[in-house]
Amino acid sequence: MRTVADHVRALAAQLPKGRLILSGIQPSGRLHIGNYFGAIRQHLAFQYGNRAFYFIANYHALTSLNDRELLEAYTLEVAMDYLALGLDPEQATFFVQSDVPQVTELAWIFTCLVPVSFLEKGVAYKDKIARGLSPVAGLLTYPVLQAADILIYEADIVPVGQDQKQHLEFTRDIAQKFNTLYGEVFKLPEPYIHPEVAVVPGIDGQKMSKSYGNTIEIFASGSALRKRIMSIVTDSTPLEAPKDPDRCTVFALLKLFATPEELEEIRQAYLRGGYGYGQAKERLYELMEHYFEEARQRRRYWEAHPDEVRDILRQGGQRAREVAEAVMERVRQATGLLTTYSKSFALRKI
Ligand code: ADP
Ligand code: TRP
Repeated sequence: MRTVADHVRALAAQLPKGRLILSGIQPSGRLHIGNYFGAIRQHLAFQYGNRAFYFIANYHALTSLNDRELLEAYTLEVAMDYLALGLDPEQATFFVQSDVPQVTELAWIFTCLVPVSFLEKGVAYKDKIARGLSPVAGLLTYPVLQAADILIYEADIVPVGQDQKQHLEFTRDIAQKFNTLYGEVFKLPEPYIHPEVAVVPGIDGQKMSKSYGNTIEIFASGSALRKRIMSIVTDSTPLEAPKDPDRCTVFALLKLFATPEELEEIRQAYLRGGYGYGQAKERLYELMEHYFEEARQRRRYWEAHPDEVRDILRQGGQRAREVAEAVMERVRQATGLLTTYSKSFALRKI
C-alpha cells in the first residue's frame, strides 16, 4: 500500500529541477483530496532540487470569507496540513500571503493595465457568481492579485490544478503587457498540471470542491472517513453483475491511492462481476487510511506546537518579503512611481 512519502518521492524523480517554483492555496475551508492530488502533492515533490515558494492565500480568501475567526483558524490549519504532509521549511519558503503586502501594491499597478472585459471572461469568476457568491470587485480582480503573487517572485513554474489554467494565461498576458509598456521586468511563468489527475471527482461525481459540499477531507479518519466514502454515489448495477470501472467514481478515487498492481486486481474484479461497490468502497477506505497515516501522526505534533508553526511562517514571510521588495523597487522605477525615501529618487524634467 502506498503512502504520501512514496508518492511524493516517485513524482519528484520525474519533475524538472533548478527552477523557481511558486504556488498558493486559499485558506477558505478544510483541504480535501482534490487539493492534495491536484496541487499539494506536486508542491511537495517540487521542493527537492528547486527553489520553492508556497503561501497561504488569505488575501484571496477574503473574496469569499468574511469571518475573522474562521479565516485565522483555516490559515493555521492549512499551515499544519502542509507541514504534516511533508512540506519542509528548510527546502521551501512557506508563508502567509498577507506577510507580503507588496503583492497588493503590484496588483494595483496591474489593475491599471487590465481591461475590465478581459476579467469578465474569467471562468472562475463566472462560476463563482453562478454559484451565488456575492459579486464583489475582489472576485473580478482576483486573477490580477494572483498575477502579482506569481510575478513578484519571478516564478518559472506554477503547479496548480486544471481549473487554474486560465489564471496562468492571464498572468502571462499581464506580464507581457507590462513588459511592452515599461521594459522587460517580468519573466513569463508556466503552469504545471499533473497529467493524470487534472480533476479529482467528489462523492457526487462532480469536480471535488469545498464549495460543492462533496469533498473527502485529507485528514478525515476512522468512522467519519468511512461514512463519507460509503456515501459516494454509484449506479445500481447489482452485486453479481460485471461493472465498468471507467465510469465509476469509486474507481476514479481508487486510481489515486492504489499501486498499479493493486489497481489492476481491482479492475479485474469489477470486470468479472461478483464484486460490489460496497467492497470497492471498503478497499478505498483502507488504502486512504494507510496513505495518510504518517501525515496524521505528524499533524498531531504540529497541533500541539502552534508556536513552532507560527515561527516557520514568520521566517518564510521575512524571506518572501525581501524577494518581493527587491522586485517592487524595480517596478516602481520602471513605472515612474516616485518613492521619496528610496535611493533612486531623482527629479526629472519633461
Ligand atoms: P476548492 O475548489 O475546493 O475551493 P481551491 O480552488 O482552493 O479548491 O483549489 C486549490 C488547489 O487545488 C488549486 O490548485 C486547484 O486547481 C486544486 N484543486 C481543487 N479542486 C480540485 C479537484 N477536484 N481536482 C484537482 N485539483 C483540484
Ligand atoms: N487561485 C488559487 C486557487 O484558488 C490560489 C492562488 C492564489 C494561487 N495565488 C496563487 C495559486 C498564485 C498559484 C499561484 O487555488
